[in-house]
Amino acid sequence: MDVSTMDPFNLLTKKISKSSGIILDGYRDSYLKRRIDLRMRAIEVSDYKDYSQLLDKNEDELAALIDTLTVNVTEFMRDKTPFVYFKDKLIADIIERKQSSQSKLVRFWSAGCSNGEEPYSIGICAKEALPKDWNISIYATDIDVKCLKNASEGVYCQDKIEKLDPILKDKYFERSEDNFKIKNIQNLSYRFKNYDLTNDSPVSKHFDTVFCRNVMIYFNEGQKVKMISNFHESLTKGGYLIIGKSETLPPEVRSLFETVSVRDKIYMKI
Ligand SMILES: C[S@@+](CC[C@H](N)C(=O)[O-])C[C@H]1O[C@@H](n2cnc3c(N)ncnc32)[C@H](O)[C@@H]1O
Repeated sequence: MDVSTMDPFNLLTKKISKSSGIILDGYRDSYLKRRIDLRMRAIEVSDYKDYSQLLDKNEDELAALIDTLTVNVTEFMRDKTPFVYFKDKLIADIIERKQSSQSKLVRFWSAGCSNGEEPYSIGICAKEALPKDWNISIYATDIDVKCLKNASEGVYCQDKIEKLDPILKDKYFERSEDNFKIKNIQNLSYRFKNYDLTNDSPVSKHFDTVFCRNVMIYFNEGQKVKMISNFHESLTKGGYLIIGKSETLPPEVRSLFETVSVRDKIYMKI
């Protein structure tokens, strides 16, 4: 499209993509507009053109905008029941399948892992449910490098872990000054990687479960279909996909999965 005929909002999103490296095409326009307007109101700018010029001069504002666009709200064992289902039912099924192939390695992916609460929740559930000598590998990805850094450090304040069962708290966290740091646990490993779900190519085909919770709410339908198809490719046959409680699978990809739990939004790759 000729840049001179583009409206100021489209020009602005193009500029944001170019400066931040984040491809915004997959996000819903209404979502982008709401979040950008929020940022503009915060610094009392009312015109997209003025805001675009400001972004040229002010790196801090670009960072603040990226923070606003990639909302990072998360918590340990978020919504609780999907994690209980994962620990009590899915892992039992995964153990059975692995035993028939004589493997003791399980792989999980936390896609859109934010500050790490989700991958560590997965790790804790898996460690609690699997035999001690099994290897658990957790791949945790996010588009936001600041979040990924926090996630890989694994340090949380008291408030963040206070809802966790005290036994699990003692077992999986150690004191680190005033905070709590995730412990190194034998046979449980985490890999953190910067990965854009709207753009990067599909990863390994061997995940036993993919968690992608509370991420696709920001994406448009086309992007959701592309992303879920990629997850389908990344899962082993019979592997599970867990999405957010308020999210739904687009009709185009429904036939790729069997519903395991309507309440917890858990699906199995057919
Ligand atoms: C609301 S948090 C959800 C965190 C966690 N999954 C949960 O349910 O608590 C959404 C996360 O998705 C990430 N995100 C947004 N767009 C993304 C993209 N295109 N690729 C990868 N991650 C993205 C954000 O940076 C943010 O950390």
